[in-house]
Amino acid sequence: MERKGVETIKEASKRFPETMDMFTNNVFSTERVIQAPPLDLPDFLKPNTRLKMDGLKCLSHVPNESVPVAFFDPQYRGVLDKMNYGNEGKSREKRRCALRQMTEELIGKFIQGINNVLNPSGHLFLWIDKFHLCQGFGTWIDGTQLDVVDLIVWDKERFGMGYRSRRVSEYCMVLQKQPRRAKGVWKIHNIRDVWRERTDTKEHPHQKPLKLQAELIAAVSNEGDYVIDPAAGSFSVMYAAHMQNRHFIGCDLEG
Ligand SMILES: C[S@@+](CC[C@H](N)C(=O)[O-])C[C@H]1O[C@@H](n2cnc3c(N)ncnc32)[C@H](O)[C@@H]1O
Repeated sequence: MERKGVETIKEASKRFPETMDMFTNNVFSTERVIQAPPLDLPDFLKPNTRLKMDGLKCLSHVPNESVPVAFFDPQYRGVLDKMNYGNEGKSREKRRCALRQMTEELIGKFIQGINNVLNPSGHLFLWIDKFHLCQGFGTWIDGTQLDVVDLIVWDKERFGMGYRSRRVSEYCMVLQKQPRRAKGVWKIHNIRDVWRERTDTKEHPHQKPLKLQAELIAAVSNEGDYVIDPAAGSFSVMYAAHMQNRHFIGCDLEG
């Protein structure tokens, strides 16, 4: 966020035009040189709607190398199984356990599908929890062209569970399809890597932060581009895409 009354380097450089080059020619450029190709979708894959369908089917109908940005927030059992919180099925976990769970193999297939539809140098924002952050999720991206390029910690401002420390965070892993580059691709440079935002979990227990997702979309796409989310839950990514004048294609088994 730019502070009021403080001249940014970019503003200062306007007084010295010969230095403007550094903003188009270096990694802090606010320009995007990548243009997404026009998208040809089958009729049943209506953009900007809450589609009720299987995410793998949805991905299989999006042309390869056609979108600059995808989000994926898998519904995994990993933590419930391995950490045995012991409250599964009880009041506060009921809605979470009622959602369709994904196996590690299925998550790998989703990520492979996303890898296929992303443009070269396109981004996947992958939501993970503390368990996967610590134990790794490497098998999910085996055989793809995706590399980890950044990590954003989301402070949910909500007190969660935990036998030792209490969870207040989740993690947004930033992956980029090869070729890996920031210059001319990532155009917003003031997104904090610890992001505090409270969400309304009444609609969906896993709803992700709207404003953070909107900032990330603006950073790695142009107006009119498509954003994809094949397991969209509350469709927070669709609303974030619309905040930035982008189109959305996505679905959830529950609609
Ligand atoms: C963690 S939630 C996503 C939450 C979402 N990011 C949000 O902000 O609301 C994962 C979602 O995946 C959905 N899901 C599970 N298996 C699916 C599949 N095969 N295809 C599409 N959606 C699926 C579940 O119904 C659940 O709503």
